[in-house]
Amino acid sequence: MQNNMSHFSLKSLFGAVFLFFAFSFGLKAQDGAKLFKQNCAVCHALTDQKLTGPGLAGVFDRAPKGDWLKNWILNNEKLIKGGDAYANKIYNDNGKAAMTVFEGQLTDKDVDAILAFMKNPPPPKNDVAAGPVAGAEATEEVKGGIDPLYLLLGAIVILALVLGALRSVRHSLQNSYNRREGKAETPESTFGQEVKEWISGHRRLVGVFVIIIAFGGMKSCWDACYDLGVYYDWETQKGYNPEQPIKFSHKLHAGDNEIACQYCHNSVEKSRHAGIPTVNVCMNCHKGIQTGPQYGEKEIAKIYAASGFNPKTGVYDAPENPIKWIKVHTLPDHVYFNHSQHVVVGKQECATCHGDVKKMTTVEQKNPLTMKWCIECHRKTEVAMEGNAYYDRMHKALKEKYKGQYDVKFTVDKIGGLECAKCHY
Ligand code: HEC
Ligand code: HEC
Ligand code: HEC
Ligand code: HEC
Ligand code: HEC
Ligand code: HEC
Repeated sequence: MQNNMSHFSLKSLFGAVFLFFAFSFGLKAQDGAKLFKQNCAVCHALTDQKLTGPGLAGVFDRAPKGDWLKNWILNNEKLIKGGDAYANKIYNDNGKAAMTVFEGQLTDKDVDAILAFMKNPPPPKNDVAAGPVAGAEATEEVKGGIDPLYLLLGAIVILALVLGALRSVRHSLQNSYNRREGKAETPESTFGQEVKEWISGHRRLVGVFVIIIAFGGMKSCWDACYDLGVYYDWETQKGYNPEQPIKFSHKLHAGDNEIACQYCHNSVEKSRHAGIPTVNVCMNCHKGIQTGPQYGEKEIAKIYAASGFNPKTGVYDAPENPIKWIKVHTLPDHVYFNHSQHVVVGKQECATCHGDVKKMTTVEQKNPLTMKWCIECHRKTEVAMEGNAYYDRMHKALKEKYKGQYDVKFTVDKIGGLECAKCHY
């Protein structure tokens, strides 16, 4: 009898906890502020400020009522092509700039959440010049939601406490019953035993729970990890171009004189490192080229000092003294990045990741090199399979596997480009 009682309350307790989490995950999925930041903030500010798209302040007053906004956000192209007057007006007013079509990327619910967020935007920051990003960041502060993982852990602790309490209540009830009936008191069974018993009696429920915990854990971890480093110091790191010991110019060498990148970075196609050329590589040319257009003999003299070369006699008569180039791009030690895989197999251009080095007098960092940066490219870049010997077999197999199902794009994430172990030791 008492057993049934505690049984019943446990069941409803689990039920309640379950609902609570289903609900909090649901909320998370519809988090308008976050969705706005991820999908819209690059082109729209919530103020009057125009970016690629118009500022969204007052949009609820000027746009047609009803479902218009929702339809626009999901598929603006359809409205424009369909001849919708307001759609065509703003399209023309904005120089026919194309807004992204979100159908397939955002659900109806997502759009509702975004609209709800747009209706109640966070108070603007004082710093207007900081623009949309600052605004979107502010919303996160305002929102300050609790991570579901913490909620989950909290709930597990509470659950354990409640279980413990129920157990001792049941035990003392049992004993008072025993006393009344003149039976011996039962010794308290161990908590571990009881948990085991309970689990074996509720396998399904436990299964569901484990899945929720695993999913919640993975998702929160993923979200947390994914964004790691995104705001690190990219703002300060951006355009990092330290002064180098010799005024070596890529513009002069790779640009004006059209020397191939691989001439100096000669391991870029063969190994994970692109490599920085040794002074011997410089000497291939500078044994002869002793003055430069801008600095005369001054900078080139440093090459001679480093290689122990005497330009007057033309012999190497002094000890070598390697040039201490300052590294511009650095990944943490736990990240594995391979140049040859990207350049040769993946057919990626140097400029995609490094910017137009041919125009740089001093090399500067053009991309954040965060996990998010890597992953976003892996999500959108198709594996160069067609006519790529490395992939011929795999491509055929994949085509066969997905034949006629849908129009699949074999982006890098589909060949494992999002697996932690591929990028981390
Ligand atoms: C790539 C840039 C871009 C992105 C991303 C983008 N938009 Fe737009 N949006 C535009 C442009 C440009 C216009 C102006 C109409 C045009 O030229 O097509 C516009 C127009 C609008 C309008 C109408 C504004 C008005 O003044 O009536 C709304 C509302 C809107 N966008 C909402 C959104 C929302 C919500 C998102 C995110 C889910 C989003 N946009 C993402 C570029 C973008
Ligand atoms: C004549 C030799 C030479 C050529 C040609 C050359 N580089 Fe370099 N590169 C260097 C040297 C020396 C450094 C180190 C000094 C510096 O950072 O400026 C360097 C540095 C770099 C760096 C920064 C490395 C770091 O520290 O993170 C990048 C990126 C780079 N080169 C890309 C290229 C690309 C892309 C090309 C072709 C468009 C190219 N280089 C052509 C000699 C060369
Ligand atoms: C393939 C040939 C080649 C290689 C290799 C090469 N250079 Fe040059 N370098 C040139 C040429 C060509 C010039 C320009 C000469 C001119 O216009 O008068 C030049 C000019 C320079 C100047 C003079 C800049 C100025 O404006 O005064 C410096 C400094 C220099 N190189 C450094 C280096 C360093 C350091 C290396 C090795 C990392 C290197 N070069 C490798 C061909 C080369
Ligand atoms: C997919 C992006 C990507 C492409 C494409 C790429 N790089 Fe890099 N490059 C990086 C990253 C990331 C680093 C930092 C690596 C590290 O710290 O381990 C880097 C570092 C370098 C360095 C510094 C030395 C080194 O090996 O770490 C040089 C030089 C360089 N790249 C040259 C090149 C050249 C030349 C090309 C084209 C032939 C190229 N890169 C193509 C991403 C790229
Ligand atoms: C410009 C786009 C781009 C960027 C940025 C980029 N990658 Fe890639 N990456 C690719 C492509 C394309 C491939 C597929 C190469 C192939 O076919 O094997 C790839 C493949 C990989 C693979 C092999 C995946 C597998 O399943 O075999 C690893 C590991 C990897 N990248 C790491 C990184 C890391 C780490 C960074 C960030 C520092 C990064 N990538 C940034 C385009 C990119
Ligand atoms: C495509 C390559 C790539 C994949 C896949 C990837 N990471 Fe990363 N990760 C990186 C890069 C690059 C950094 C360094 C970011 C930085 O320095 O800002 C990083 C940083 C991290 C960090 C931060 C460590 C630190 O030094 O602060 C953690 C933790 C992490 N990753 C975990 C994961 C987990 C867990 C997964 C799998 C779910 C994963 N990563 C998948 C590229 C990747």
